[in-house]
Amino acid sequence: MAPSSSKTLSPTLHLGQTLSFTGSPFTEGAEAARHENAGALLVEGGVIREIGTAEALRAAHPAAKLVDHGAALIVPGFVDAHAHYPQTGMIASWGKRLIDWLNHYTFPTEARFAERSYADEIAGRYLDLLLAHGTTSVCSYCTIHPESVEALFSAAEARGMRVFAGKTCMDRDTAPEFLRDSAQSAYDDSKALLERWHGRGRAEYVITPRFSPTSTPGQLQALGALWAEHPEVLMQTHLSEQTDEIAWVKSLYPQARDYLDTYEAYGLLGERGLYGHAIHLEPREHARLKEVNAALVHCPTSNTFIGSGLFDMDGLTKAGLRVGLATDTGGGSSFSMLRTMAAAYEVAQLRHHPLHPSALLWLATQGSAISLMAEDRIGNLAPGLEADFTVLDLASTPAIAQRVAQAEDIWEALFPTIMMGDDRAVRATYVAGRQML
Ligand code: GUN
Ligand code: FE
Repeated sequence: MAPSSSKTLSPTLHLGQTLSFTGSPFTEGAEAARHENAGALLVEGGVIREIGTAEALRAAHPAAKLVDHGAALIVPGFVDAHAHYPQTGMIASWGKRLIDWLNHYTFPTEARFAERSYADEIAGRYLDLLLAHGTTSVCSYCTIHPESVEALFSAAEARGMRVFAGKTCMDRDTAPEFLRDSAQSAYDDSKALLERWHGRGRAEYVITPRFSPTSTPGQLQALGALWAEHPEVLMQTHLSEQTDEIAWVKSLYPQARDYLDTYEAYGLLGERGLYGHAIHLEPREHARLKEVNAALVHCPTSNTFIGSGLFDMDGLTKAGLRVGLATDTGGGSSFSMLRTMAAAYEVAQLRHHPLHPSALLWLATQGSAISLMAEDRIGNLAPGLEADFTVLDLASTPAIAQRVAQAEDIWEALFPTIMMGDDRAVRATYVAGRQML
């Protein structure tokens, strides 16, 4: 998708309802969200300059170009904190649990990314799907092929998107031979990609060992060494997703105290570490993750689709752990962060802790940005942040519209779109102030 040609340097005033955050609903309740019924957002040079009432900002900036979104709701662009863009074409593959799902569907699909033209095609398709669903930033795994990383960062650069990504590393004979690197090549390729892409425009490199079952201790150690040399970057991996997987980890790493220890022992535990799933945690793992202030990423549509389990949102957030929200495409069954919020609500209900709409929206925006250590750049509508925002139609289908007609406040008006909405609810998506949808 080509960026629109509208000038982004002149100030633009976006009018509509606005929702932003002054804190976290998990600690401060819905008071942490600020709703303006007749709100405005002043955008200039790709950055949010001011947020306030339409009346005040129109009076203060009479020369600004006006874009009136009517009754639609302007929210921060969604931030998907864990996804596998190479799995775009195999989303919704039937009938397997994690290990069989990887062997049967995932690895053959990922093998195709050795070819740069295929990687380019999927990377472009994937980012356009994200924009159509109101997602402006993603933290994605690639494949073992450096070309797959080049393809995603190039496609993101062409769209102006802040994308976090890294070469997936696998050198163990548990992965098929056609999808294996080595400890040395994983280190060398990751380092070269990091040096080439990290901080170039909006690209952020993420060191990416897939998970301990597909790496040798030597590879984990090499990537731990790379992280120690580049502590400014994030590291992402998977942790305690399925019970079969945990048993497998224990058999492959008999000396480890638990799953987390397979990362900890090789320098892969830290504040800039992102641990996807984190469902079946042992008390020591919980305590260590908290101690180092690591981030956990909740992938609710994946956890139900692959049959992994119920993430303990209430317990983990009450303990003060940082939590982001993610689709986990294509283990997850949707590209939509609205659908993902709905699944997070349902999973929390199964644990008897309903999540307020403000908490769901926060997880999909600022919570994910905090998990990515990027809350000073993305994830909220606030002065100085990059102008990534999404405009939601809160009556996008007849079923949603008839429910919203009875709503008495913003939360009752937003919740039907969270539970029943999809890309039809996304009226516009802006990336660094430019309209992309
Ligand atoms: N664990 C290791 N690799 C993957 C993957 O691609 N998807 C999911 N859901 N879990 C994983
Ligand atoms: Fe994943």
